[in-house]
Amino acid sequence: MHMQWRAMREGDLGQVDAIARAVHLAHPERPEVFAERLALLPAGCHVLEEAGGALAGYVLSHPWRDRAPPALDSLIGGLPVPPATFYLHDLAILPEARGGGAGGRIVARLAEIAAGLGLPTLSLVAVNASVPFWQRQGFAVAEEPALAAKLASYGADARFMTRALVA
Ligand SMILES: CC(C)(COP(=O)(O)OP(=O)(O)OC[C@H]1O[C@@H](n2cnc3c(N)ncnc32)[C@H](O)[C@@H]1OP(=O)(O)O)[C@@H](O)C(=O)NCCC(=O)NCCS
Repeated sequence: MHMQWRAMREGDLGQVDAIARAVHLAHPERPEVFAERLALLPAGCHVLEEAGGALAGYVLSHPWRDRAPPALDSLIGGLPVPPATFYLHDLAILPEARGGGAGGRIVARLAEIAAGLGLPTLSLVAVNASVPFWQRQGFAVAEEPALAAKLASYGADARFMTRALVA
């Protein structure tokens, strides 16, 4: 199946919501959350498009504060000035489109975008037993006892992870 990542558009949000509901059964977020992230940093939002135009995945990301992941399903209101990290809010690919390297390709693209913004790290909350995938992308689990309550909103297997970017 030929698929490629392209910039997300407002008109994609309905399909993004459908993919989120299919993939993140245990982690639902309101459509406003996706719309807000797209409005805040369009360059951090991409969709995985199949040859016929249907969408098979999406990613949302934005500059953020260090070690301060937003609670699940929350609006953030704006971007911090100055930011300290590039935060990957959500990466989701439909099951039939996994395993072909699309996840790894978009993480590499986001690392370039973050480095271009002068940010020293990528960070995220890993869920759905995705820690090994993120480790393959150069991330490591950061044990942060102060984040325990926040991570609990993402489920018992949630882990805060970071990756340093080459300056
Ligand atoms: C995690 C996810 C984005 C990976 O996307 P993908 O396109 O299948 O990933 P890739 O094909 O680029 O895989 C890259 C590597 O990670 C490995 N990998 C992928 N998912 C993995 C997982 N869940 N556990 C362990 N390894 C994994 C692949 O085998 C591949 O290894 P290789 O480099 O040796 O070939 C996708 O499985 C997904 O959407 N999962 C459900 C939602 C989710 O968990 N998102 C992350 C939440 S923080």
